[in-house]
Amino acid sequence: MADTLTITDNRTGKKYEIPIQDHTIRAIDLRQIKVNPDEFGMMTYDPAFTNTAACRSRITFIDGDRGVLMYRGYPIEQLAEHSDFLETAYLLLFGELPTTSQLDQWTADITQHTMLHENIKKFLEGFRYDAHPMGMFLSSVGALSTFYPDAKNIHDPASRRLQTIRLIAKVPSIAAYVFRHTIGRPYVLPDNELSFTGNFLNMLFRMSEPRYKVHPVLERALDVLFILHADHEQNCSTHAMRGIGSSHADPYSSLAGAAAALYGPLHGGANEAVLRMLTEIGSVQNVPAFIKRVKAGEGVRLMGFGHRVYKSYDPRATIIKRIADLVFEVTGRNPLLNIALELERIALSDDYFVSRKLYPNVDFYSGLIYQAMAFPVAIFPVLFAIPRTAGWIAQWEEMLTDPEQKIARPRQIYAGPPRRDYVGRDKRK
Ligand code: CMC
Repeated sequence: MADTLTITDNRTGKKYEIPIQDHTIRAIDLRQIKVNPDEFGMMTYDPAFTNTAACRSRITFIDGDRGVLMYRGYPIEQLAEHSDFLETAYLLLFGELPTTSQLDQWTADITQHTMLHENIKKFLEGFRYDAHPMGMFLSSVGALSTFYPDAKNIHDPASRRLQTIRLIAKVPSIAAYVFRHTIGRPYVLPDNELSFTGNFLNMLFRMSEPRYKVHPVLERALDVLFILHADHEQNCSTHAMRGIGSSHADPYSSLAGAAAALYGPLHGGANEAVLRMLTEIGSVQNVPAFIKRVKAGEGVRLMGFGHRVYKSYDPRATIIKRIADLVFEVTGRNPLLNIALELERIALSDDYFVSRKLYPNVDFYSGLIYQAMAFPVAIFPVLFAIPRTAGWIAQWEEMLTDPEQKIARPRQIYAGPPRRDYVGRDKRK
């Protein structure tokens, strides 16, 4: 059986044989299909990229029908059980789990780069007291490019590695500064004796005590949440990272763009939107009326439900539900949990959601945990961006080193007016 696709163009009767590789044809192979030799040739039309592979990737695998997620071949369940965020970040970035000495070096490298330039405080001061944390976060990440002009050397592997370390180390510090700015508390310096997530909690929540005491359950819970959010193959923000990076912009500018894409409520902003939705619903009794509004298509969506790729339960949501129980044992149960459980119960037995294969996604329960851990709702998308930084950089590195990749430049079908002549303002109707 030949691995080809035969296409008959019924406009001309001509047949074309197109090679198939990995169950995929190359869109450029369709360009030979034309009626007249001077035509541009056939394109594919795929708004929102629902059926177009834009790269070959070795990083993350998702089987949306079976609810499978793997980083570099390792199932997410095993990483959440046995790994920690820095080890998982290493795996995503470099392709293999580190040996003990590699992990020690990696951890030391990251720990050494957590400090921020003092001037970052100054421009954070310029934001209003009620500025959204994600706006401050993505602006500050973009501004890092002005502190590290060497980051322009994107073709130098040593420079790329240095920027990678800086970014992974500094995004929690930026997030913590943003948080402290929001609540008007002094910034806390990193504590090199603490773990990655332990130090982050220290920079967020330390008050006047000489040493911040990290709660081990909350530290581990945050670490697992970071593992679950570290990468998710070609989603909207990763696509932005690759797209901006393909113009050879420096990684800080590219990552600021990726964070901006994550900000939207259909993507990483969904965790914030879920909490606002649960708060608006207010009580379990109001759940059926809310579901009715969603089904009536009144412009209301059940936030934290549905996914472009998962057409079964998001495996990250299953793990998050378990972490929620552990966190609530420490913090007390989030009162909004009952509303979330009731929403899930009704949605999973309602034909509207079942027929559309809408299941809870990663954002449905994560916000409840963050809120129980005393994070303000507006900072939730920033908590998504911190671990996703590892995935964004891994994908950026893969794009840059892939000889098949070039500057991203989609085509369009022009649907505007044909050529016409300019009309002076006095003659316009
Ligand atoms: N509530 C109600 N109906 C929905 C929802 C929802 N959350 N999601 C999809 N639908 C309906 C949609 O109206 C459409 O119905 P119909 O066929 O009658 O027009 C059908 O399901 C298919 O939806 P779609 O918009 O074509 O699906 P999509 O793949 O373009 O969208 C999504 C995926 C995640 C943007 C969407 O499911 C959504 O808006 N969910 C809520 C926001 C959310 O939780 N986002 C976080 C995603 S997971 C974290 C991440 O990776 O960023």
